[in-house]
Amino acid sequence: MKAKIAVIRGDGIGPEITDAALTALGAIATKFSHEFVYSFPLLGGEAVDNTGVPLPQETVDVCKKSDAVLLGAVGGPKWDSLAGHLRPEKGLLGIRSALGLYANVRPAFLYGALKNSSPLRPDIVKNGIDLVVVRELTGGIYFGERGQKRTEKGLTAYDTEIYSVHEIERIAKIAFEIAQKRRKKVTSVDKANVLESGRLWRGTVNHVAAAYPDVKLDHMLVDNCAMQIIRDPSQFDVMLCPNMFGDILSDEAAMAAGSIGMLPSSSLGTGTLGLYEPIHGSAPDIAGTDTANPIATVLAAGMMLSTSLGLYRETEILQLAVENVLDAGYRTADIYTPSTKKVSCSKMAELIALQILQL
Ligand code: IPM
Ligand code: MG
Repeated sequence: MKAKIAVIRGDGIGPEITDAALTALGAIATKFSHEFVYSFPLLGGEAVDNTGVPLPQETVDVCKKSDAVLLGAVGGPKWDSLAGHLRPEKGLLGIRSALGLYANVRPAFLYGALKNSSPLRPDIVKNGIDLVVVRELTGGIYFGERGQKRTEKGLTAYDTEIYSVHEIERIAKIAFEIAQKRRKKVTSVDKANVLESGRLWRGTVNHVAAAYPDVKLDHMLVDNCAMQIIRDPSQFDVMLCPNMFGDILSDEAAMAAGSIGMLPSSSLGTGTLGLYEPIHGSAPDIAGTDTANPIATVLAAGMMLSTSLGLYRETEILQLAVENVLDAGYRTADIYTPSTKKVSCSKMAELIALQILQL
């Protein structure tokens, strides 16, 4: 098949990890005789430097005309002092919103070969980790009203957590549908003991659950959930989270699964167009050193193949290639443990590509 893919390299390690993903995709294209046509629209800090804004309209247009969007990471200290609406992160939030990508799917899986890379004790991870964070992505406190006000207390700032029933319903449905294809358990995360929005969240999720009698639903307060991920991550199947809680808990789940460098994500809306990115940031401290872990981005490209392009066998081969390379003992610095073989970002990509061709 021929597919148009918008590749947003971004800032920091963004270019290195997207190049790695393109190496893996190149091997998939060769093996299965596909043609992937790439465009490279700007977003984030790079867009600020070149166009003055973090999300140029042209980038939105190019993405909308593509079959899928693959993104590295955005942001860095260079742009930290800019006003909120000019920050690179605003570009990322803007593209998610402009493409209507309200459902963010973040699978955290502990590979057998990485059991020693998890900071959790062996007896805690003995049952493995295989969970999916389903994060609401275009609402909540990320998009509610915010600002600064002078009051009698001096300067104050506020951000608003706001959810509509419609927003909660549509993300809850995604979580239940994913659970139906897995172990049929949804844990809905909220702070209903304090937040009004949390109570609306809980009530609405209960209502949606009635249509999925085969799925078991639990509710968990977010503080307890953060603790339970450390106590026994194997208890989770699908975690349904508001935007900010999903952001926080997916980093925690990623680390439990060995490294934040391992977790891919897909962001989806009502159509087949999706945005695929690692859950981690731009790691400016190691940018340009060829030491980043490209696996999250490679796996994100893998999610893209099946979810946006309908190429299921290709996704399987890519995932198997990653697993085989890990089983063969190759590690980037973040997942390195004594007696394994440390490789660079680009070398890891080459090994995965070679493995794809050999499978
Ligand atoms: C993520 C990131 C982003 C988010 C930042 C960079 C805006 O942390 O994708 O998890 O908070 O959504
Ligand atoms: Mg995050």
